Amino acid sequence: MHISIFGLGYVGAVTGACFAKDGHTVIGVDPDDRKLELIGSGKSPIVEEGLDELIAEGVSSGRLRVTKDYMAAVAESDISLICVGTPSNPNGSLKTDYVQKVSTEIGQAIKAKGTFHSVVVRSTVLPGTTESEVLPAIVKHVSRESFGISMNPEFLREGVSIYDYYNPPFTVIGTDSKEEFERVHSMYSAVSGEVIHCKLSTAEAIKYGCNIFHALKITFANEMGMLCKALGVDSREALDIICKDTKLNISSKYMKPGFAYGGSCLPKDMRAYTHKARELDIYLPMFEGSLASNRIQIERAAQRIMALGPKKVSMLGISFKEGTDDLRESPLVTLAEILIGKGYDLRIYDPNVEYAALYGSNKVFIDQELPHLKRILVSASEALEHAEIVVFGHDAAPYRELIGQVSENQRVFDLAKIGNPELFKGEYDGLYW
Ligand SMILES: NC(=O)c1ccc[n+]([C@@H]2O[C@H](COP(=O)([O-])OP(=O)(O)OC[C@H]3O[C@@H](n4cnc5c(N)ncnc54)[C@H](O)[C@@H]3O)[C@@H](O)[C@H]2O)c1
Repeated sequence: MHISIFGLGYVGAVTGACFAKDGHTVIGVDPDDRKLELIGSGKSPIVEEGLDELIAEGVSSGRLRVTKDYMAAVAESDISLICVGTPSNPNGSLKTDYVQKVSTEIGQAIKAKGTFHSVVVRSTVLPGTTESEVLPAIVKHVSRESFGISMNPEFLREGVSIYDYYNPPFTVIGTDSKEEFERVHSMYSAVSGEVIHCKLSTAEAIKYGCNIFHALKITFANEMGMLCKALGVDSREALDIICKDTKLNISSKYMKPGFAYGGSCLPKDMRAYTHKARELDIYLPMFEGSLASNRIQIERAAQRIMALGPKKVSMLGISFKEGTDDLRESPLVTLAEILIGKGYDLRIYDPNVEYAALYGSNKVFIDQELPHLKRILVSASEALEHAEIVVFGHDAAPYRELIGQVSENQRVFDLAKIGNPELFKGEYDGLYW
């Protein structure tokens, strides 16, 4: 395959050298004379193990060359990868000037070339950027049918990038075209791991999700370590053991966007840990931020329900999670409290919660927090009969069975991703989907 790479920084240089090794013909484009000189003479522009050798091999085999001439690079290739930098502006926003400029250049070059060309965004850009900035810049020069577009984020770690290139966690290709997916896929024939086809904006979001998750994991480990150290606990040992749990900890469990956490353990333990830290003059902003963020989830859900208009609401599910009657610190109880406080005419259905059967701290909690529960706890059919808005709080069989009974005049607000939105006859809105 003939590939042109725009931007010979870390990402462009490594990707280009690996493509050349794998038998592709690569033309690197960059305005930086020094980088062109170095790569052109078979040397790496960055310190990276194994890269000097790869570049030297690529240049001497004739499969890797560099130029400033972007028109020629597009004319002589089938596919162009945008690998230019996307640094921060002083206010923290993403600077996309280089991406826009290179998109314009590629658009002009495709026009001059006169035949179909594929464009791949490899720079890290915020969800929606390819659609709102790259596409229009190219479409200014050529018709939408003249080029294909996809987003293929980069997951290399500096220092071990060549190993990472051949052994990625996965290869993500975001595009709405099957042909573009196949074309981009074919560049990676020498690469192991799953190849995932998704939407453009999903690919853009995945890159941010991965990096933010890494940053959060480091912060999590450090905040754990701060209090552990103060309490005489070996945090390395504790964290190593925590990571051995691949069922609940290092797993997809709890990684589904949805409603707030609650119950008798998570909020209480988070409070106790952060309180102990404060007692010892240790501030754990991420852990404290979790409690604040959790509260925001509930308030946001209440605001979104209130924005729908109608005042007759039925909540399907009230316990802190499905399959239990535990109401303690259930975020759905807080949501119900907010709605009742705002004058909403609320009904609640939860097959696991029977008021007369509640006892102990569970009953004390609900009598304090939601004294109206007894009056507004109804059967499934009464809940559906009452509602102008149906709020799904849990995703479980007894609730899924009710989907077909929601009428076209009832609006659904789904906190649990109970099912495909198309299953509902009327208006549907999901929390984060
Ligand atoms: N460095 C990493 O570890 C890493 C990893 C994954 C993703 N990314 C992302 O990849 C992108 C590139 O990162 P980088 O570290 O390689 O950036 P970089 O700043 O090191 O390199 C960017 C290159 O683009 C060139 N350039 C600017 N305008 C150009 C134009 N019009 N035509 C051709 N080249 C042009 C620059 O001269 C420079 O050589 C960024 O969006 C970054 O966030 C970086």
